[in-house]
Amino acid sequence: MSASDFAIRAYRVKKNYGKSTDGPGLNGLTMEVPRGTIHGLLGPNGAGKTTAVKIFSTLLRLDEGEASVAGYDVTAEGHRVRERIGLVGQYAAVDEQLTGWQNLEMFGRLYRLPLKQARLRAEQLLGQFGLTEAGSQQVAKYSGGMRRRLDLAASLIVSPEVLFVDEPTTGLDPLARQEVWQAIQSLKEAGTTVLLTTQYLEEADQLADRISILKDGRIIQEGTPDSLKSSFGGDRLDITLLTQEDASSAAAILRELGDGGFSVDEANNRISVPVSDRTGSLLRAASAFAASGLEPLDMVLRRPTLDEVFIHYTTRSDYRDTKEATQA
Ligand SMILES: Nc1ncnc2c1ncn2[C@@H]1O[C@H](COP(=O)(O)OP(=O)(O)OP(=O)(O)O)[C@@H](O)[C@H]1O
Ligand SMILES: [Mg+2]
Repeated sequence: MSASDFAIRAYRVKKNYGKSTDGPGLNGLTMEVPRGTIHGLLGPNGAGKTTAVKIFSTLLRLDEGEASVAGYDVTAEGHRVRERIGLVGQYAAVDEQLTGWQNLEMFGRLYRLPLKQARLRAEQLLGQFGLTEAGSQQVAKYSGGMRRRLDLAASLIVSPEVLFVDEPTTGLDPLARQEVWQAIQSLKEAGTTVLLTTQYLEEADQLADRISILKDGRIIQEGTPDSLKSSFGGDRLDITLLTQEDASSAAAILRELGDGGFSVDEANNRISVPVSDRTGSLLRAASAFAASGLEPLDMVLRRPTLDEVFIHYTTRSDYRDTKEATQA
């Protein structure tokens, strides 16, 4: 891929809020996002997601390193970058006192569209985000999902090449979340590159072509949702037993089979075993159980969830300690 194929590039970007050089912020962020894709930037609270979005959208200056968006350097060519991007911040930007219509019309005027064009665009966007009927209502009366969709609409007054969306569905119910996901998906279909930050694994899994996991200001893992799941040790065999007693017998049998490294969910009498050969392991375990008269309720082969990958990469090692230290 050549440089122009990337909508977003960051090379060893550092941003420090504090006085010490390895304090909170970004500590050498390197990433590339191909044009026309949805990229998920995933990380726990304080990982640096919003900081990265602010640097890419030129709201914040980087201390060291290089970053470009839509082919333009964020430091030297900030105005060119701003012409080509949209930003949906972590907190809503729309005015509660105005109606949906008035908000979009106002944003259109801010982008210097003539009134007639601003009105036309507002109408189109309300339609696109399923807000035509709600358009004449005051935003204060909107649900969280409607607000978020209006926020997205407002960032699209002039179709951006690259859209930054910071935690689009935090605090939304599952239905509203689905609606926002659909809206983001349709932007990608229209050719916009989307960088999406989220703490929800499911969100990244559903939407993102590729995911970067951010921790303490740097990327610690990157790949497609599938490759991240495989990198973490492949498939798992989940065995659910009827009683706690059965669960301990099953655990003993698995230990004898040499299927180490399994975890036991005691509340649900469920054992989760990492397996390298899927059906082989399933058959071996099933026949060993049968031989000792043990009948599991359920035996399923599955891929690891992105949750398991995320927890594995972000909470082992020193994450908790540093988090507690910064909160103290
Ligand atoms: N203006 C600021 N001044 C000082 N420290 C800051 C400032 N903004 C952010 N930080 C610190 O920088 C680190 C990264 O913050 P950032 O907001 O980028 O994280 P985040 O990944 O977006 O977190 P969240 O999931 O909570 O939104 C945190 O430790 C935060 O406390
Ligand atoms: Mg944030």
